[in-house]
Amino acid sequence: MKRWLQAYGLVLASLAPLTAAIANYTPLSSSTSPKYSVGIPPGSTISQSTKGGIYISITAPTSYQWVGLGIGRQMAGSTMFVVYADGAGNVTVSGRNGGQGHNEPALDTSLMTGVTVLAGSGVANGVMTAFVHCTTCTLASTASSTSSPWIAAWNEGSSINSKSLSYSISQHGGNAFRQFSFDLTKSTLSSDSNPFVASSPSPPSKVSSSGASLNPTANPSPNPTSSSSSDPDSDDPDSQSSSNDFTPDFKTIEQYLKAHGIIMGVTVVLLFPLGSIFMRTVRHPWIHAAIQIFSLCAMIVGLALGVKLAQFTSMLFNNSHSIFGVVVVALFMIQPVLGLIHHHLYTKTQSRSIFSHLHVWYGRILMILAVLNGGFGLRLAANSKKGEIAYGVVAGFIALLYASVVLLKRRGGEGGGRRRLGVFGKRDKDAGQRDASS
Ligand code: HEM
Ligand code: HEM
Ligand code: HEM
Repeated sequence: MKRWLQAYGLVLASLAPLTAAIANYTPLSSSTSPKYSVGIPPGSTISQSTKGGIYISITAPTSYQWVGLGIGRQMAGSTMFVVYADGAGNVTVSGRNGGQGHNEPALDTSLMTGVTVLAGSGVANGVMTAFVHCTTCTLASTASSTSSPWIAAWNEGSSINSKSLSYSISQHGGNAFRQFSFDLTKSTLSSDSNPFVASSPSPPSKVSSSGASLNPTANPSPNPTSSSSSDPDSDDPDSQSSSNDFTPDFKTIEQYLKAHGIIMGVTVVLLFPLGSIFMRTVRHPWIHAAIQIFSLCAMIVGLALGVKLAQFTSMLFNNSHSIFGVVVVALFMIQPVLGLIHHHLYTKTQSRSIFSHLHVWYGRILMILAVLNGGFGLRLAANSKKGEIAYGVVAGFIALLYASVVLLKRRGGEGGGRRRLGVFGKRDKDAGQRDASS
C-alpha cells in the first residue's frame, strides 16, 4: 500500500508541470500541420517594451523545408524563429528580424544572445521539433493580452539540412502564412522550466523519468499540441489552449486597427487643419464650426475604436499613445466652447478677446499634438516605413499649406482685416469688405 502511495505521489509530482498552461496554435486542419505553442514563465519581464523569458515550441513534419513563428502583426518589424533540419538529427533555430517585411528576414544576432534550443528538440520519426527558450524576446502586446498578435509561415519541400543560422530560405507560398493571436492569459507557466517535455503525450509514468524524455530520441512524438484541444476543461495543458485556436480573431483586430488609424489619421492630418484653413480663407465662422464639429465627431468615433482596440490587445493606458491620445481628444472637446465664446464676444465688440487668441492658439497646438500622437500610433502598430512616410508627407504638406495661408492672410480679428493695416500701413479696405460673414 505504502509503495502504491509513493508511486501515486511520484506520478502527481511529475504531473505538476502539467498544470501549467500553454497556448497552442495549429494553422491547418490536416494532421500534418505545423504546430506552435507558447508559455510564459512566472516572473517573466516580457512585455511590449521589455525583454523577458518565453518558451516557444515549433513542430512540423520533415516534409516541410522550414517552419517559422513570429512575434508581431506582420512580417515587417517582427521577431521570427525559423526552424529547419540541420542534417544531423537536430534542428537549427534561426532567430530573425522581419525588417521592412516581404523579404527574407535577416539573422538577428542580438536576439540570438538570449535564445536557447532546449533538450527535447530534434528531428525524430519524421517530425522536426524545436523547444526554444528566449530571454531577449519582446511581445507585440502585454504579457496578459487575450489577443497577442503573432504570425506563422511555412514552406514544404526537401529538408534544408544546414546548421547555418543565416541559411537563405525560400519564400513561403501565397497561402502558407497566417496572422493570428495567442490568448496569453492561457499561457502562464507554473515554473521557469521547459514546459513542453512534460506535456508530451507520453504516459505520465514515462514523463516522470523526465531525464530520459529530454533526449530527442526518447521523446519520439515531440508534438505538444497533438493531443486534442477538444476538452477545454481538462487538466491537460494542451486542452488549455484558447478554444478559438482555429478561428483566431486576428481579422477583427486588424479591422479595428485600420478603422482607428484611418479615421484618426484623416481627422487630425486633413479635417481639422482644412477646417482651420477654411476659417482663415473663406472666413465663414459657422461653416468653420460645422466642419470642426464634424471632425470632432469623427475623432470621438476614432477614440471609441482606439479604446476597443486597446482593450483587445491589452494596450489601454500602458503606452504613451493611448494615454496621450485620450488626453488630446478630451482637450479638443473644450475647443468648440472657446470658439463659441469668441464668436459671441466678437459679434458684440467687433474685436478680438482673450478667447479669440485662446481658441486660435489652443487649436493650433492641439492639432500639432494630435498629429504627433498619430505618429506614435504608427510606431506602436509597427506600421510599414511607407505608411509612416505617407503620413509624414501629407502632414508636412498640410502644415506648410496652413503656415503659408496664415502668413499670407494676416489679419487682426474674426472675419479678417477689420483692423488690419495694408502693406503700406493703411487700412486694408478690401479686407474690411470681406467681413460680412461674421
Ligand atoms: C525568404 C523569406 C520570406 C520571404 C521572401 C517572404 C515574402 C513575403 C511576401 C512577398 C509576402 C506578401 C505575400 C502576399 O501578400 O501574398 C509575405 C507575407 C507574409 N509573410 Fe513572408 N516572407 C518570408 C518569410 C516569412 C517568415 C519566416 C514568416 C513567419 C515567420 C513570414 C510570414 C508572413 C506573413 C504572416 C505574411 C502576411 C503578413 C504580411 O504581409 O507581413 N514570412 N511574405
Ligand atoms: C489623437 C488621437 C489619436 C490618433 C491621431 C491616433 C492615431 C493612430 C494611428 C495612425 C495608429 C496606427 C494605425 C495603423 O498603423 O494601422 C494608431 C494605433 C493605435 N491606437 Fe491610436 N490614435 C489616437 C488615439 C488613440 C487612443 C485614445 C487610443 C486608446 C485609448 C488609441 C489606441 C491605439 C492602439 C491600441 C493602436 C494600435 C497599436 C498596436 O496595435 O500596436 N489611439 N493610432
Ligand atoms: C473642435 C472644434 C474646433 C476647432 C479644432 C477649431 C479650430 C480653430 C482654429 C485652429 C482656428 C484658427 C484658424 C487660423 O489659424 O486662423 C479657428 C478660428 C476660428 N474659429 Fe474655430 N475651431 C473649432 C470650433 C469652432 C466653433 C464651434 C466656432 C463657433 C463659431 C469657431 C469659430 C471660430 C472663429 C470665429 C475663428 C476665427 C478666429 C479669429 O481669427 O479671430 N470654431 N478655429
